[in-house]
Amino acid sequence: MKFELKNILKQISFNTFIPFFYPMMMLPLRSWRRKAIAMLRFQPGDRVIVPGVGSGYDLSYIPRGVSVDGVDISEVMLAIARNRIRHNTKSITLHIMDAENMDFPPNTFDKAILDLFITCVADPQKAFSEIVRVLKPEGEILIYDHLIRVPAWADSFMAGIDLVMKYNFCTVIRSFDEVIKGQPVTVTKEIKGDPLGFIKGFLLRKTA
Ligand SMILES: C[S@@+](CC[C@H](N)C(=O)[O-])C[C@H]1O[C@@H](n2cnc3c(N)ncnc32)[C@H](O)[C@@H]1O
Repeated sequence: MKFELKNILKQISFNTFIPFFYPMMMLPLRSWRRKAIAMLRFQPGDRVIVPGVGSGYDLSYIPRGVSVDGVDISEVMLAIARNRIRHNTKSITLHIMDAENMDFPPNTFDKAILDLFITCVADPQKAFSEIVRVLKPEGEILIYDHLIRVPAWADSFMAGIDLVMKYNFCTVIRSFDEVIKGQPVTVTKEIKGDPLGFIKGFLLRKTA
C-alpha cells in the first residue's frame, strides 16, 4: 500500500486504541445497521466492495452467494475482521489498501457498502469518486453514516470538537451533499439509522 502522510494519525489510532472501545460503540447500532444493509437488493453472484471494512461488522449481514472484497488501511482492524470470519464459508477477501486509490478496474462491483467510512476517510470526495469508478452502471451504494448539516449556532462548537477528532477518528461535520456532488449517482431511499436520527442510511444508484 502506498504510504500517505494524511492517513498516518488515523492508521496509528485504528491500529492501537480504537479497536478496544469500538465494539462498545457499535453494539447499540446492530439492528439499525442490519436494516440499512437490507435496503440493498443482493442478487446471487453479485460482487460487493466494502471500503473501510474495519473489524468487519457488516460482513455478517451480507447474504451468502455474493463475493465480498473488504478494504482497509488498518492491519489491526483487518485482523479482527479476519478473526470474525474465520469459521465463515462466505466468499470474503480482505485487502490492506487505501480506498482513495484502489487496485480494482472500473465497473467491477455490483454493490458498495460504506458504513461509518465517509466520515472517517481523509478525502471523502476522492474516496467516493473511486467507489463510483469501480462500481458497475446501475450498481447500488449504501451509505450508513452520521453525515449532517451543522446548524449555524453550533458551527464553532462543532468545529472545535471536529478539530480534535477528524485526524485520528472521524469528523462530526461532514455534509452528505458535498460528498456526492458531481458524481453520477441518484439517491433512491433514505432511512433513520439510530434512535436519534443522527445516523442515516442512504441508498444510491450509479446512473451512468
Ligand atoms: C469508523 S471505522 C468503520 C468500520 C466499519 N465500516 C464499520 O462500520 O464498523 C472506519 C474504518 O475506515 C478505515 N479507513 C480510514 N481511511 C481509510 C482509507 N483511506 N482507506 C481504507 N480504509 C480507511 C479505518 O481504518 C477504519 O477501519
